[in-house]
Amino acid sequence: MQVDRYERYWMWAASGMLALFLVAIVVTAVSGGAHPPSHVETINPETLDIGTEFATPGVVTAPDGSLTVVMRAELYVFKPDVVRLPVGRPVRFRITTPDVLHGFQIVGTNVNLTVAPGYVSEGTTTFTEPGEYLVVCNEYCGLGHHNMYSRIVVEAAP
Ligand code: CUA
Repeated sequence: MQVDRYERYWMWAASGMLALFLVAIVVTAVSGGAHPPSHVETINPETLDIGTEFATPGVVTAPDGSLTVVMRAELYVFKPDVVRLPVGRPVRFRITTPDVLHGFQIVGTNVNLTVAPGYVSEGTTTFTEPGEYLVVCNEYCGLGHHNMYSRIVVEAAP
């Protein structure tokens, strides 16, 4: 088959770009600690207040010292709206919603979860720098979507 020389150049250039983009995706995913959802855990969104950990959202310290943050995303707030955590320790986030689809993104970290009613989303991160981290909802969830945010305050070790 006869392929024009310039057409061949463009085919190679397009293939090269595809390969470059693929490498960029893999490198940023690995270096940023991105990972696909690790498990599927279901929950009845209508009975979150009855005997589940989501009835009282907040920071839970296990006997072995590991930290879990239990959170709720609701129209148009995160509960709790301020979370205080120590620096340099792995933290597991568990979040669900009683109403509609939300997002849970901690800006500047690898935590970026979709929060769907009926499911518990989980993500783990370690805050390496003390400071204030913004949490935003990045799924359009209604008229108050743009006002749906909260804060995580990471405190330096005493
Ligand atoms: Cu919740 Cu957008």
